[in-house]
Amino acid sequence: MIFRQLFEPVSSTYTYLVACSETREAVLIDPVLEAVDRDLALLKELGLTLKYTIETHIHADHVTSAARLRDETGSRAAVPEKSGAAHVDLPVREGEPIRVGNLELEPLYTPGHTDDHHAYLLRGDGGYRIFTAAAPISRMATRRRFTDRCTARSSRCQAIRWSIPATIISSASSAA
Ligand SMILES: [Fe+2]
Repeated sequence: MIFRQLFEPVSSTYTYLVACSETREAVLIDPVLEAVDRDLALLKELGLTLKYTIETHIHADHVTSAARLRDETGSRAAVPEKSGAAHVDLPVREGEPIRVGNLELEPLYTPGHTDDHHAYLLRGDGGYRIFTAAAPISRMATRRRFTDRCTARSSRCQAIRWSIPATIISSASSAA
């Protein structure tokens, strides 16, 4: 797996690049407009094909570059269905994993910061990462030692449990 944490200071947004090292397919989680050139350069440098841009939520605190990246690379925009956003290529729903190469991102509905907010659980390389963005799941997950697999398929984050201690990663605007 290829993994990069990227930070854009104007919007105070963390963006994450995740790619399958075998197929070279990639996703960008919460890419922002101010950093399109950075992200395109990184994809080129690493020899990756951008399959999806993935949003945790739609919010005025960061402006997605999904449309620009779609125009530049042919990527598809994965956006929470609950956002009601236009020009969505892949409506994101809990229970419907997003596959990129040999990796899988599982959307987890985590409303609170916004009504459409989703975190993403990434399985790959024998470990787990959770991209939380602005969801309070980070506090919950780091405070508890989780023993069960995810049991609350459509619940709020307080009811979600993890099979193993996971790496918790915040993304969009978490630095603000
Ligand atoms: Fe936000």
